[in-house]
Amino acid sequence: MSSSGPGRTWPLVGRAAELDDLDELLATTAGGQGVTVLLEGEAGVGKSSLVDALRGSARLLDVQLSTARASSMRPWPFALLSDALMQTSSRTALELELAALLDTLYALPVVPADEIARAGAMFADLLRSRGATRPWALVLEDVHESDTASLEVLHGLAHEGALHHALVILTMRPVPYRPELAAVVAAWTRAGARHLELRPLSGRATVELAEHLVGGDIGPSLRGTLATTGGNPRFVADVVRTARSTGALVTVDGVHDTTGSEWLLPLDELVRRRLEYLGNDVLLLLGQASVLGTSFVMSDLALLAREPVADCWRTLRHGLAAGVVRARGDRLVFGHDLVRAALYNGLDPDERRALHAQAAVALRQAGAPAQIVSSHLERAR
Ligand SMILES: Nc1ncnc2c1ncn2[C@@H]1O[C@H](COP(=O)(O)OP(=O)(O)OP(=O)(O)O)[C@@H](O)[C@H]1O
Ligand SMILES: [Mg+2]
Repeated sequence: MSSSGPGRTWPLVGRAAELDDLDELLATTAGGQGVTVLLEGEAGVGKSSLVDALRGSARLLDVQLSTARASSMRPWPFALLSDALMQTSSRTALELELAALLDTLYALPVVPADEIARAGAMFADLLRSRGATRPWALVLEDVHESDTASLEVLHGLAHEGALHHALVILTMRPVPYRPELAAVVAAWTRAGARHLELRPLSGRATVELAEHLVGGDIGPSLRGTLATTGGNPRFVADVVRTARSTGALVTVDGVHDTTGSEWLLPLDELVRRRLEYLGNDVLLLLGQASVLGTSFVMSDLALLAREPVADCWRTLRHGLAAGVVRARGDRLVFGHDLVRAALYNGLDPDERRALHAQAAVALRQAGAPAQIVSSHLERAR
């Protein structure tokens, strides 16, 4: 098994159907038709890996591939589109003119709106004309972090329908929510863009990925931890990497398995770092929810958090969008028990005991069975 990049296994596990879909769309583009794809999925689910895997097919089909990744560290106007479109060595007259305009704009302390509009119109022209000589694919990654000017260009173009001879793929996490991005998604949806929601890996693919990463069969203890990843490949990689780096991964009779539980501490810390993008309010409430267990009822959490139910929903909607919790009627379920455990173990011990005491009261009041109430009381000591 060869590897392409740190932590990346190759070929992709469990994504044959999605890759086939994208390959087919690429072939459609090579045939002249334009297609836009909105590829959405929770953090670490494998969006970048999937679009990376298109490189080979693009080469085979002689489709030119332009890619760029948005970053909130690069918020200046057109950062995303410049990265994607302005890196060619031989430039057309339009590209030269646009490059000169951008140089002037970036030298200004404040960029006037009409100049932004002029550059935006030129980027739109560039996007329209790129496919004139040869089909191409444009992959814009992490558009939830895109600069606003690039989003405006994409928004404007949506009114014209798919770009000719182009497969355009926008990848995004559902969180953070940005109204400018929501407008782009709505406009492209009206223009017939395809939505591809990348779901977590199946249980079988999760184990297969872990086996690739450790290089052989895996044992029951490691399987148990993998079952808490909810099929998120980044968490699978985190589990294996942490087990290995802490020396908890051992091989007996050709089977790789973990020993002890000390390695779960650094794993918890890593998982908590992965969740930071959700913001403090969401994490605080999810931490409180973690005391109630893998699944919980919103009104119980509201009692525990001493907040109205509606406020809890409002806060947790980001956790829901991010796939950290899933709604099942009035009940919410953690999508990855690994995350619940990491949040629970991250609570200050005094606070955790106090939360268990409150949970006992809230659950008794809500008519929960005596043994559930007493299990909370025990952990409140
Ligand atoms: N199907 C897969 N098979 C093997 N490894 C995978 C697969 N999907 C993702 N990975 C691995 O999981 C990790 C996270 O994947 P990736 O970066 O593609 O996720 P993402 O959805 O782009 O995340 P983000 O929301 O942070 O951009 C990487 O180490 C990647 O190599
Ligand atoms: Mg990514």
